[in-house]
Amino acid sequence: MNILGIETSCDETAAAVVKDGNLVLSNVVYTQIPLHKPYGGVVPEIASRAHIEKISEVVRTALADFNASYPDEDIDAVAVTYGPGLSPALIVGVNAAKGIALSLGKDLIAINHIEAHLHTPFLRDSLEEPELCPDKLGAALGLAVSGGHTAWIDMDGIGKYRIIGQTLDDAAGEAFDKAAKLLGLGYPGGPKIDKISKEFFAAAPRGEKLFPFPKGHPREGVSSLSGLPADLCVSFSGLKTALLRFVEKNGGAEKIADDGLMPKVVASYQEAIVSVIADRTSKALGRKKYSALIVGGGVSLNSRLRAALTDVAAKHGVSLLTAKPKYCGDNAAMIAALAYYRQNIAGDDAMNIDVCPSLEIGS
Ligand code: KG4
Ligand code: ZN
Repeated sequence: MNILGIETSCDETAAAVVKDGNLVLSNVVYTQIPLHKPYGGVVPEIASRAHIEKISEVVRTALADFNASYPDEDIDAVAVTYGPGLSPALIVGVNAAKGIALSLGKDLIAINHIEAHLHTPFLRDSLEEPELCPDKLGAALGLAVSGGHTAWIDMDGIGKYRIIGQTLDDAAGEAFDKAAKLLGLGYPGGPKIDKISKEFFAAAPRGEKLFPFPKGHPREGVSSLSGLPADLCVSFSGLKTALLRFVEKNGGAEKIADDGLMPKVVASYQEAIVSVIADRTSKALGRKKYSALIVGGGVSLNSRLRAALTDVAAKHGVSLLTAKPKYCGDNAAMIAALAYYRQNIAGDDAMNIDVCPSLEIGS
């Protein structure tokens, strides 16, 4: 079954064709990062306008690539992200997908963006790559780490998803992006912080002490936060404030850079985020017997986080499933792939659906 996927939830306009839930036949991503760079973050109105301008071309290219490589094959269904994300951005993809499904005479399938991120480790580019089936995996712990989400999810099979821990304020990607803005490093901040930290750790003397930024643990004595166990929740607002105070106390970002302190500040900040995510993941894995740890979302590109999660997975004896780098950020292959397995909103139900900016996982 070949599914055309469409994704416009944030700042990437994307379309892809995926066969049987894992084999990527074509994949096109147009990123709007240069448009949002001057503002240090995604501007919803700019995102929406750029999606409108690009969506036809992106879908046409994905279909042309598919037709050129697989002339005897057809599209069997259309899938689209309907949430969570920015409402004016989601609307563009959902309306385009409804029109395309109607004109092709195929079923539409509505997909949750975060659930799709957690499906990215199953994507493959050729039949030579091993096929991993999510429905044969057994219970897995999902970790969604993106610009808008940081959550731990109990995945007991396709569609049986339950959030067991999450951030109480900013997402990890947001914490990276806001810090980079404050430190004058540019947008998006995650890749910049990752690169600077890598260089810092490569050059730092053994045992070099980092700046002690707060690690996002809840206050002593708090056992439940928003109905979730406190030891599976994180908060990055205190860390952000600590960085702001540090910058103020040390004469501003420029002075910190001039004094040669920037790499250490950046690495210390990254370490605070990575260590609390690794700690929560370890605690979640200790609560139940899981077969795998599935990590998805743009922040899963972070090299330090990948290393920390590799250790955590090994300690708990579970396999770590991460996506290829090109499928970590937003893309439509993950939407088309999950749609093969998850068709709870399909056909007329999908044609009548509205965008859902705050869509919960598992709903
Ligand atoms: O999943 P994604 O592409 O979009 C959302 O659904 O939000 O994630 C984007 C986020 C941004 O916050 C970006 O800074 C972060 O992923 N990111 C990284 C890295 N690469 C991208 N964060 C840390 N380290 C990276 N190497
Ligand atoms: Zn995403």
